[in-house]
Amino acid sequence: MRGALPRPMLWQMRPATTSEQMSGRTLPPGATIGILGGGQLGRMTALAAANLGYRCHIYCQSADEPAAQVAAQTTFAAFDDTDAIDAFAASVDVATLEFENVPITTLERIAGLTPVYPAPAVQAVAQNRLSEKGFANSLGIATAPFRAVTSAEDLKRAVAEIGTPSVLKTVRMGYDGKGQVAVKADTDLTAAWAESGAGPATEGGILEGFVDFSCEISVIVARGTNGEAAAFIPVENRHTHHILDETIAPADIKPETAATANDIAIRLIEGLDVVGLLAIEMFVTSDGDVLVNEVAPRPHNSGHWTMDACRSGQFEQLVRTICGLPLGDPSRRCDAVMKNLIGDDVDDWPKHLNDPTAKLHLYGKAETRPGRKMGHVNFLGKPNEN
Ligand SMILES: Nc1ncnc2c1ncn2[C@@H]1O[C@H](COP(=O)(O)OP(=O)(O)O)[C@@H](O)[C@H]1O
Ligand SMILES: [Mg+2]
Repeated sequence: MRGALPRPMLWQMRPATTSEQMSGRTLPPGATIGILGGGQLGRMTALAAANLGYRCHIYCQSADEPAAQVAAQTTFAAFDDTDAIDAFAASVDVATLEFENVPITTLERIAGLTPVYPAPAVQAVAQNRLSEKGFANSLGIATAPFRAVTSAEDLKRAVAEIGTPSVLKTVRMGYDGKGQVAVKADTDLTAAWAESGAGPATEGGILEGFVDFSCEISVIVARGTNGEAAAFIPVENRHTHHILDETIAPADIKPETAATANDIAIRLIEGLDVVGLLAIEMFVTSDGDVLVNEVAPRPHNSGHWTMDACRSGQFEQLVRTICGLPLGDPSRRCDAVMKNLIGDDVDDWPKHLNDPTAKLHLYGKAETRPGRKMGHVNFLGKPNEN
């Protein structure tokens, strides 16, 4: 038998102060967690919640959705159906979301009836690329240079200020590179504006200087109702066609770069006053500078490796934070590589089941489509000595 588990390295955790410990509210196992959104992030949250004895009520569009398949309770309705939203809020003890673009008015309505974590104000910052970068800058945290853009004409002014190469994105609703256009010296800016889809529905566009990064990393940090925070180690993310392909844990970066990334993550989660998870995507430049790209106040694809390789994975941490339980230990038991199964990649599932180093996770999606995340595999290394 081993003795008491060692505590994680100090820079990964900031313990709660005594007054913070007093303020937390505990939801005991048996309580119901409401999850807005029915995708794989909700599915894996519901599975982790079930492991700790909680019930999940999923609010999504249809019974086919990954989270609905594993839930104790479901509501199938639109996010602007106020009757359905009120009934959902009345039936849960706490609510969270796995889908970033739930309307803020919906979240505020639910928050009037039951706690919502992370709070609607956090979502409002993270849903908007201008405000998330502006918020990071207000804490003294670096990002790529950026400008708000409201029209094709305005884009010319922004390109003159930022220079090329640069990237035009929609302010809202972008994911997996959607709504992004590369801007080079010879780009037709009128065509680029039209191609980006930026307009009133997305609250316009944002032009960002292109970062010539040496690698992309992310840190996922959890923070409880009592202010206690715990970060997973920085990991490297490799994208193909703007979609996450692989996450490598740990990232092959200098210890001081890892410490900087961890410090940024803690400052952001405390600055935003998040209860729940915050994922921070960052660029590391060849000079070792760390720039924040975007933040997501929810479980993140780059944290899927933690399910099998850490003492407490990201989904368990989310459940612990929003239920007022003590945080789990985020330290890793082994190195890992997470590979997304995108589109036809999922056809390889039998091969992964025969690989003793592979842990297969499938999302229960009936239809395979190009670019669709169907599952992931965590390839696990030898156990760490820690
Ligand atoms: N300013 C930038 N400089 C260099 N690469 C970028 C920049 N912005 C985005 N990218 C690349 O595109 C990917 C997706 O962009 P991101 O802003 O994370 O949007 P989303 O993930 O919401 O689609 C990033 O992970 C990165 O590889
Ligand atoms: Mg991203």
